Amino acid sequence: MRPYAGIPDAERPGLDVQENVALLRRFAYIEQRLCLLECGHFPGTAILECKHALGRHAWEDGQHADALRRRIVTMRTSKRVLEECPDPALSACMDEVERAADTVELLAGVHGVIKPALLAAYLWQLDTTNPVADFPTARELEIIVREEARQLAWASEAITEVAGAAAARAALDAAQSAGGFAPSPVASAAPLAPASADDPPAAARGDPAVGLPLSPEAGAVERAQAWQSHLRTFLAAAGGVTGREARCAAEVPRSQERFQISRHPRRDPRFTIHFQFHEPGDPAPETTEEKLIMMMRGRLNELAATENPASAVYELSQAADGLPWEGLLELVRHMWDEARHSMLGQAVITSLGRDIREWPLRIGPGYSYLSVGPLERYAHLGLNVEQGSMRYPPGKRQEYEWCRDVARNRLAAMYQDYDWADETYHTQIARRWVAAALKAGAVGEEQPDEASAGWATLGGYARAVGRRMAGNTQAIARAWHARKARGETLGPGDALPSGEGPAQEIDDEYRQDPEIALTRQQVEADLRHAE
Ligand SMILES: [Fe+2]
Ligand SMILES: [Fe+2]
Repeated sequence: MRPYAGIPDAERPGLDVQENVALLRRFAYIEQRLCLLECGHFPGTAILECKHALGRHAWEDGQHADALRRRIVTMRTSKRVLEECPDPALSACMDEVERAADTVELLAGVHGVIKPALLAAYLWQLDTTNPVADFPTARELEIIVREEARQLAWASEAITEVAGAAAARAALDAAQSAGGFAPSPVASAAPLAPASADDPPAAARGDPAVGLPLSPEAGAVERAQAWQSHLRTFLAAAGGVTGREARCAAEVPRSQERFQISRHPRRDPRFTIHFQFHEPGDPAPETTEEKLIMMMRGRLNELAATENPASAVYELSQAADGLPWEGLLELVRHMWDEARHSMLGQAVITSLGRDIREWPLRIGPGYSYLSVGPLERYAHLGLNVEQGSMRYPPGKRQEYEWCRDVARNRLAAMYQDYDWADETYHTQIARRWVAAALKAGAVGEEQPDEASAGWATLGGYARAVGRRMAGNTQAIARAWHARKARGETLGPGDALPSGEGPAQEIDDEYRQDPEIALTRQQVEADLRHAE
C-alpha cells in the first residue's frame, strides 16, 4: 500500500515556516493587487470578451488572495500582517502595472509579465515545499495554478487577436523566448494544468458566440512589447515575484499619481452604441421571441451593473474609510455575477441563432453609476435596483416564470432561475456592506438621515442617491446626444455635467424600464394566457 496517504516526496526537506510565510505574503499581495486593478480597469475596457474575462479573472484572483491570506494566519502569523505591504518595490511594480493605458497594455502587463512570473513561482514552490508538512498550502496552490493556467491560455489567444493575429503571433513567439508572453509553455509545464482542459479554444468548439472579428490596432505589438520591457524592470527591482532574484533598478514610473478609473464607461466598437436601448422610432417587441430577446438584451447589457461594483471595489480599496478586504471580496463576487448575467444574455440570444450585434448596446446606466461616489453607486444598485427586482410581480421571479411558462425556453428559464438566486444574494451583500461602510463614515455627497445604519436609513440614503443620479443621467444624456448629432462621442478628457437639483424618484426604475423587465401588464397577460 502507498505510504504517506499517497502524497509523494514526503522525505523532501522543503521550506521552513518563516520562508513559506514570506513567500505567501508576496503571492497574496500580488493576487490582491491584480484583483483590484482588474476591477478598476473594467469601466475603461471596451471589448466585450475582455470585459467578461476581466470579471472572471478578478474574481478568481480575489479567491486566490483570500485562500493565501487564510493560510498565512495559520502559520504563527498575526492577521495584522495581512494589511502590510510585504515589499515597497513590489508595491511600486503593481502601481506601474495598474497604470496600463488601455486593453493592449493591460493584457501585456497582467497576463504577459506578472501572471507568467507568478505561475512560475507557484510551480517552484510546489516543487520545493514539503507536501506533507505544508499540505494546506500545496492544496491551495494546486487549485490556483490550474486557474492561472486557464487565464493565461485565454489571454494568449486574446492578445493575439487584440494586437492583430499574424504580426502579433510572430512578435509573441519572439517575446516568449525572452520570457514575455509565455503562458503556453509555463501552463503546459504545470503538473495538473493542461493549459485549457475545460476551456478548449473557441475554434475547436466551433462556438459561434466567440470569435466576433476584431479590427486590430496598428502598432499594438510594439506598444505591448515596450510596456512589457518597462514593467520587467519594476519586477526585477522587487527581486521577482519571490523576492529571491538579484535586484536591479527600475525605470522611471509613468506617473507619480495612482491610476484613476475612467468616468467614461466604454462599449465594444463592433456594436452600435445607444444611450438607452430605445431611441425614438424603434419598434416595440411583439412576438414571444422578440420579447425574450429584449429580456436577454437586458441581461447582455448588465455591463453597467458589472461596472458598478467593479469601480466601487477599486475606489473603496483606495479610500481610508472604505471597506475591509472581506467586504471588497463580496463586492467582487457581485461584480463577477453581473458579468455572468451579461454572458447569459449573450448565450440565450446566440442559442436562438441570432447575432448579438444586431442590437445596440446601451451606455446610459454606466454613465449614471459613474456620476456618483463608489458607495453611493453601489447603494443605488443593491438597495434600489436589485431590492426593487425582488418585488413580485414583476421582479426576478416573474422573469423566470415567463421564460419557463410563456417562452418555454429551457436555457433562458434555467439562466433566469440562477439570475434570481444571484440577485437575492446581492441584496444581502449590499445591505451588509453599505451599512458597514456608512458606519465607518464612507458616505460621499449624500448624508444618511441618522447616525445609525438601520434599514430605514439605508433606504433613505439610497433613494437620495437615486434622485441625484437621475438628474445627472439627464444632463449627461443631453451632452451625449449633442455630441452624437455632430458625429462625435464623449470620451476621456470630457468633463461630465451633473444634474441641477434632484430629479424624479428613481427607486421605481426597475418597474418602469421595459428593457430591464417586460412590462408588468404584458407579462401578466401572457402568464394568464399560458395557464
Ligand atoms: Fe444581474
Ligand atoms: Fe445583481
